[in-house]
Amino acid sequence: MTTTAVTPGSIGILGAGRVGAAVARRAVESGYEVRIATAKPAGEIALLAEIVTPGAVAVDAAGLAETDLTVIAIPLRRYRDLDPAHFAGRTVVDVMNYWAPTDGEQSDFERDARSTSEVIQDHLHGALLVKSLNHIGYHDLEADHRVPGAADRRALAVASDHEQSRALVATFIDRIGFDAVDAGPLAAGRLLQPGTDVFNGSHSASQLRGLLAEACLGARA
Ligand SMILES: NC(=O)c1ccc[n+]([C@@H]2O[C@H](COP(=O)([O-])OP(=O)(O)OC[C@H]3O[C@@H](n4cnc5c(N)ncnc54)[C@H](OP(=O)(O)O)[C@@H]3O)[C@@H](O)[C@H]2O)c1
Repeated sequence: MTTTAVTPGSIGILGAGRVGAAVARRAVESGYEVRIATAKPAGEIALLAEIVTPGAVAVDAAGLAETDLTVIAIPLRRYRDLDPAHFAGRTVVDVMNYWAPTDGEQSDFERDARSTSEVIQDHLHGALLVKSLNHIGYHDLEADHRVPGAADRRALAVASDHEQSRALVATFIDRIGFDAVDAGPLAAGRLLQPGTDVFNGSHSASQLRGLLAEACLGARA
C-alpha cells in the first residue's frame, strides 16, 4: 500500500490505558507530537502521562481537536460518551473491539450485523473513520515493530471508506514500524474483528493480503 500520500505530524489519543499508552509510546518514539486524553481533566492524568507515556502531552479531550489524526482507544461499551461534534471532519482510528466477556453483552453489537466500526461511524457521523490497530495486542505493538524492509516486519490492515484517511493512517502505521495493508472499505473491518484469522495471528503483508482475499471469497460464496 502506498504510504507517502500524506504524513500526519501530530497524533491525538483518546484513552490512556493499555493500548492507548502503547500507541502513544510508539508514536513518540517515531517522532510524532503526541497528545493524550481520557474523560478526566488534563491535570488529573498529567502525572500518569509523564510516567507512562513520556514525551506525550496530557490534554483535555477537547485538546485532541487540533491533531492530524485521532486514535480512539477506549472500551467499546463507552462509545456513546463520544460527542460526534468533536470528531467531525477528522480522521479517526477506531482500535476498539467488541469483547462480550469483558464488555458485557451490548445489544448495539449483538443485534447489528454490521462491523462494529460501521456502528461507530454512524454515531460519529461526520468523522472520517478508519479501522486499524485493533488486531494487535498492546504488548506486541512495542515488541514487534521493525524498520521498513525487515524480513520479519509485521503487517496491520487498514479499512475505511475515505481514501485519503486510509492513506494517512497507512503512513502512521508504517512510521510506527509495521507494513500497512489496504483492507478496503470500512465494512471490511469485520475481517479484522475478534474471532477472525486476521485477529488471531501475526502476519506479513503478503500473508495478511491472502487472508483478507480468502475471507472476501468466503463471504461471497
Ligand atoms: N488491550 C489490547 O491489547 C487491545 C488491543 C487492540 C485493541 N484493544 C481495544 O482498545 C480499547 C481499549 O483497550 P485497553 O485494553 O487499552 O483498555 P483500558 O486499559 O481499560 O484503557 C481504557 C482507557 O480509556 C479511558 N476511557 C474510558 N472511558 C472513556 C471515555 N468515555 N472517554 C475518554 N476516555 C475513556 C480510560 O480512562 P479511565 O481509566 O480514566 O477510565 C482508560 O484510559 C478496547 O476497545 C479494546 O477492545 C485493546
